[in-house]
Amino acid sequence: MSAIATSTAVPSQSESLPALAPMRIGPVNVWPPITLAPMAGETGSVLRRLCRRQGAGLVCTELTSSHGLFYKNRRSAEYLIWDAEEHPIAAQLFGSEPEVMAVATRMACEAGADLIDINMGCWVPKVARTGAGASLLKDLCRARAVMSAVVEASSVPVTIKTRVGWDGCVGSAVEMARLAQDCGVAAVAIHGRTAVQGFTGRADWGPIAEAARAVRIPVIGNGDVCTPEDAARMFRETGCAAVMVGRAALGNPWIFREMSSYLLDGASLPPPTAEERLEVTYEHARLTAMQAHGSDAPDTPVHASARGQLSHYLCGLPHAAEARRRMVRIRTLSDVREILDAVERAHRGEPAFAA
Ligand SMILES: Cc1cc2nc3c(=O)[nH]c(=O)nc-3n(C[C@H](O)[C@H](O)[C@H](O)COP(=O)(O)O)c2cc1C
Repeated sequence: MSAIATSTAVPSQSESLPALAPMRIGPVNVWPPITLAPMAGETGSVLRRLCRRQGAGLVCTELTSSHGLFYKNRRSAEYLIWDAEEHPIAAQLFGSEPEVMAVATRMACEAGADLIDINMGCWVPKVARTGAGASLLKDLCRARAVMSAVVEASSVPVTIKTRVGWDGCVGSAVEMARLAQDCGVAAVAIHGRTAVQGFTGRADWGPIAEAARAVRIPVIGNGDVCTPEDAARMFRETGCAAVMVGRAALGNPWIFREMSSYLLDGASLPPPTAEERLEVTYEHARLTAMQAHGSDAPDTPVHASARGQLSHYLCGLPHAAEARRRMVRIRTLSDVREILDAVERAHRGEPAFAA
């Protein structure tokens, strides 16, 4: 199965497209300036590779505990394993203790990270309760100590990813961006929601624009960039140097080629065909199996953590609900193949799943 979407249609544009330029973060050239957001449980090596293949300019690891690395936790160390095709890649670390963050930074640099990213946006209690993540928005003194220690320890540029504030009153992305610049941080990604908002409500891009005007280092705009038109609007309305795409890339790595095409040529690519989607869904499962077991034979186990990731691709395909129900029970690559073959039959108008 292979069907690369080629036809393009130039949309009528009521507003001009932003002039796109590579984002430079020290020696790292991010092109196109459209990046994959870190998403715990989702953006492991496999999705990162698939997004790079579709043109993501930069990818990032899931958030990784500096304490886990410091105490040589095996799972934490596994977050620092990536494939050559993922570069440029940022290793995202979280922690609130400068010395521990410095040790973790050195480990990530030794592992070959192109950038070190400090998580300053995570609100989940397990992280925020320890003074790390978004809690740093409430404690600029500690934020300064953490950023300075990481910059000092790092052999590659350091970035931060933060939110527009802790809540509507405490913490501000603009203040944090200025502080980051003072500490030698090389770029700032801002999610347009407060920590208290979590993922509710709409992202407010106003503070992203304010931060982009306030600092000389690149500002990366994030939050509710779901379509090529959203990306164009984020560039236009905020003056950001790059956009960061999260949830819209789940089960949809093609979003990167669609955004690039629109931003560079004004061309709206058609969505991937059903054949292409099924092919890449299987490739996701195959890479997962290869990564864990070094084999892509049909009886190779597919780790349970991939079940949800694979389900994302099925959205909108025929018999998606039944396919998803089955996907959460898969054990091997051949189970995945069976489900995808059934969806393909349904797409051709043939009987899909046996009752
Ligand atoms: C499932 C999930 C996991 C996430 N994990 C992380 C993380 O590990 N580190 C981080 O900085 N942000 C994390 N985020 C936030 C995203 O990076 C991003 O800021 C947020 O989803 C908003 O972007 P979007 O509207 O494009 O999805 C996560 C978001 C989701 C949905």
